[in-house]
Amino acid sequence: MPMASALPRMIDTNRRDINSHRCHILRISTPGARLMISIGTADRRTTVTDGPGSPAIDSSASHSARVWNYLLGGKDNYAVDREAGEMIMRMFPDIARIARQQRRFLVRAVRYLTAEAGVRQFLDIGTGLPTADNTHQVAQRVAPESRIVYVDNDPLVLVHARVLLTSTPEGRTDYVEADVRDTDTILAAARSTLDFDRPVALMMLGILGQLRDEEDPWAVLARLLDALPPGSYLAVSDGTDTSEALVRAIEIYNANSASSYHLRAPEALARFFEGLELVDPGVVTIPRWRPDVADAEGSPRAVDAICGVGRKP
Ligand SMILES: C[S@@+](CC[C@H](N)C(=O)[O-])C[C@H]1O[C@@H](n2cnc3c(N)ncnc32)[C@H](O)[C@@H]1O
Repeated sequence: MPMASALPRMIDTNRRDINSHRCHILRISTPGARLMISIGTADRRTTVTDGPGSPAIDSSASHSARVWNYLLGGKDNYAVDREAGEMIMRMFPDIARIARQQRRFLVRAVRYLTAEAGVRQFLDIGTGLPTADNTHQVAQRVAPESRIVYVDNDPLVLVHARVLLTSTPEGRTDYVEADVRDTDTILAAARSTLDFDRPVALMMLGILGQLRDEEDPWAVLARLLDALPPGSYLAVSDGTDTSEALVRAIEIYNANSASSYHLRAPEALARFFEGLELVDPGVVTIPRWRPDVADAEGSPRAVDAICGVGRKP
């Protein structure tokens, strides 16, 4: 199956194949507002207008958030994303299991951070399209007063986040559209919701792998952690370069996608936790991080992805 041609991107604002019952797209013709995207159910609705300063959604090439959504069995993706996801699954069928395991790690990590470590503030960068058990839902189930700031650079995530990332009345959920490299913008925006004098859990799941080694994801992470007080936490998960089939599939994905992903050696990923106190059991293959009975796939078979949680001393 042919993959979509890569950049330069064509912004096709009239696509209707986004496969979600919640999404209606219609073209309107008033100057300065070419596209209205209305998302919602009968009781709750939001509108984003594709005028100046509003998101332009690129359906001409696959994007990370939408491919990830497809791998998770979601409906918020385009044909190009499904083609990319199918290609990876053909070459490396375990990728869908890794995607599900990463979401289960999110649930276990956020539950640990709220219930056991007492954290009430979360900065979740590379949020992804909303799915079951997003960070605020897991945290606010344990502690309704929890505050969560989500950050992503994909305009479709922004559109969905405005509607679906709601909050308990006691807590707060905010969304920042920013690139992970732009740490000043992220930190400045997050400060209006989070109190940086109290511990914050920085959630970096499947996001540091979006940066090439030359972009120094270790330095990007250090800038974020430097701004957080002692007693803050870092949660990371990312894919490892431990399967030839996965390495090859990601090479093809990168050559044909608007986004790219960079698998790393487990030791390189473990360096993200330098200077932090690792929470037991350390940096491990995802299914082995504090599996619980609710994990249908909690068997300890290793996957080509690792995760961990560390505490800033
Ligand atoms: C693999 S998905 C992971 C989503 C979610 N964290 C999870 O674990 O299910 C990666 C997410 O990072 C976002 N992303 C990719 N590059 C980014 C960047 N440079 N800055 C901010 N977000 C980015 C994508 O839009 C996507 O939503």
